[in-house]
Amino acid sequence: MEEELLQLKAEAESAIQDCTSTDELEALRIKYLGRKGLFSSLMRGLGKVSSEDRPRLGKLANDVKTDVESVFSNKKDELSTTANAQDSSLDYTLPGRYIPFGNAHPVTKVMDEVIAIFEGMGFGVAEGPDIELDYYNFEMLNIPAHHPARDMHDTFYVSESILLRTHTSPMQARIMEKQDPPLRYIAPGKVYRCDSDITHTPMFHQVEGFLVDRSVSFADLKGVLTNFTDRIFRKGIPLRFRPSFFPFTEPSAEVDIACVICEGSGCRVCKQTGWIEILGAGMIDPEVMKMVGYDPDQYSGFAFGVGIERIAMLKHGIDDIRLFYANDLRFLSQF
Ligand code: DAH
Repeated sequence: MEEELLQLKAEAESAIQDCTSTDELEALRIKYLGRKGLFSSLMRGLGKVSSEDRPRLGKLANDVKTDVESVFSNKKDELSTTANAQDSSLDYTLPGRYIPFGNAHPVTKVMDEVIAIFEGMGFGVAEGPDIELDYYNFEMLNIPAHHPARDMHDTFYVSESILLRTHTSPMQARIMEKQDPPLRYIAPGKVYRCDSDITHTPMFHQVEGFLVDRSVSFADLKGVLTNFTDRIFRKGIPLRFRPSFFPFTEPSAEVDIACVICEGSGCRVCKQTGWIEILGAGMIDPEVMKMVGYDPDQYSGFAFGVGIERIAMLKHGIDDIRLFYANDLRFLSQF
């Protein structure tokens, strides 16, 4: 019996090794390992063996069966891998499939960069409503009804007292009204004006910034804005503060950077001046302070408003703002 078992093992293993197809392998499995197969019929002979020999032969029979089964399953794996490799419907020389990647819109990217710079200087980020009250957009910023400054804003009105905010400055009033100094915030978001040409779109983005504390000076404003332009454009880019007027700041300034195209020597983009305006700023007007309940004798603060599309245009040399909103992938995928 022992000999027969070993012989069966040798025969089965070599047959399995030599087989070349899964069908053939299945036939071998039935022949040797099946319920009515050769191995089973040998096992039936175990009953006639003397009780002395039975434990040893029983163990041998089990070992033989496990060995043959493992040779069988290895062969099965081997045959299925080669079968896949030979499948003629797969062509491994074909180029891979192109999966187009999306990415953030250039305005979103510049917006994120601007926010990160001010966060780095300790400013909190606050967002407010796009549909705003006339009260916050104008009244609380020292622009009463019939004030000529309202003309500059080309406002979209929803009703007499409700409008699409024309700037992010109303967030100054909304925050100061609720919190006491010291505070420093930026308010990023969309703004709306009824205006459209190569430098204007009816919707665009601004970041408002302001800081209020005891003895804040214009020098603090200059420091913060210089750090900003150093980081968003390049370190050491020249800055110029030009006197200007905004009803909610006094004194007010418009801030220019040296032209990013000609570096100050004069070109078409800077209209030969060598300078390009990038933002409005100033010291928060005492009238605004009073309206939110701050004592202008104790506190002072500065504020500024930056147009994000404008920064993006200067950073990337884009000469038509409308490109940002034309949804042309040839343009958008360059960023
Ligand atoms: N809100 C102004 C605008 O949209 C920009 C601005 C100017 C904001 C001066 C300020 C500021 O905070 O101090 O044109």
